Amino acid sequence: MIYFDNSASTPPDESVLGSFIEVNKRYYANPSSLHIAGKEAEALLEKSREQVLSILGAPDGEVIFTSGGTEANNITIIGYAQALQSRGNHIITTKIEHPSVLHAVESLAKKGFQIDYLSVDEQGVISLNELQDLLRKDTILVSIMHVNNEIGSIQPISECAQIIKEYSRAIFHSDVVQSFGKVPVLLNGDGPDIVTISAHKINGLKGSGLLAMRKGLTPVAINFGGGQEKGLRSGTVSVADAVALAKAMRMSETNVQRNEFSQWRDRLVNFMKPFDDVLILVPEKGASHILSVAFTKIKGEVAVNYFQDNGIIISTSSACSSKNRNAGHVIEAIKVPEKYKNGVIRVSFGKNNVEQHVEEFEHVFTGFMKLLGKGK
Ligand SMILES: Cc1ncc(COP(=O)(O)O)c(C=O)c1O
Repeated sequence: MIYFDNSASTPPDESVLGSFIEVNKRYYANPSSLHIAGKEAEALLEKSREQVLSILGAPDGEVIFTSGGTEANNITIIGYAQALQSRGNHIITTKIEHPSVLHAVESLAKKGFQIDYLSVDEQGVISLNELQDLLRKDTILVSIMHVNNEIGSIQPISECAQIIKEYSRAIFHSDVVQSFGKVPVLLNGDGPDIVTISAHKINGLKGSGLLAMRKGLTPVAINFGGGQEKGLRSGTVSVADAVALAKAMRMSETNVQRNEFSQWRDRLVNFMKPFDDVLILVPEKGASHILSVAFTKIKGEVAVNYFQDNGIIISTSSACSSKNRNAGHVIEAIKVPEKYKNGVIRVSFGKNNVEQHVEEFEHVFTGFMKLLGKGK
């Protein structure tokens, strides 16, 4: 099987798995315990934190280990909204965020917070003018994802950070789950104040992620217990997960330099474009590991099944419900023409892919087009 669904999840790297097992075997003590075994585990945990911050270029920042990107986004959005509500109740985000951001802000709207959603153009990119216009004195939080998980559009994060700093006192969060390891991400200088990362998107392990923030920016806790992770994520910390995530981050940093992904994406775009009724949803300046394409008259699931039957794993990109047949929120936001809306597929590359996989994809794609009776 050729695996082209790396935006959904990636295969864990052997050495990351190795570290996870090794740490679980040798450093199983509770890192909050006072005895020597606890202290050793704690030292490893703190080392992982330092490594993460050094990779993000923010040595004096703070890291909270979580169960993944979803929990990190929830702690950030709800926790900062609550922490800053004496200053205001206005929050800005985009229409194309991951559900873990969108549903978190929706829950805040029900409690009286005012939410503005930045629209995106057909390339899936926000307007800096709209951002500037929406910022208000009482804006407390802006959350703008770096790379979109469905179409790969990249938001101008540094420009956003500059505007937010110039026109408001808001805190700037960016979900960098899909960009870390592919597009440079930093937590210093002109970047965001807080980023969220998920391990399983970077050849790490599922159930592990983090939020990293600049020093001195502390949200309010949204869950309660023993007060671990500065009180923000109670529950015994998995040192093995923290070590494995820091390792996955170190290893995936080198991916940023790889240019095969853009070569493969451009090759496939040029290959698919000439076919009748195929709409390529690749933004001009999109992340190179994500390539979405739409067909008419068939549902994305049909294409996914055909590719699977022919040895290739891809995914649909819309959260298309079979009951109401609504296209996903990203597909709606970029105004994909009606006839293509339900026929979207996503191909996403990872470090286990090789050129031969791309060749094989072309071969299967040609067969699929033949089946649909579409030519060039
Ligand atoms: C952009 C983005 N944010 C957040 C998440 C959630 O991450 P996790 O699966 O670790 O909860 C995902 C996963 O699909 C994602 O693509």
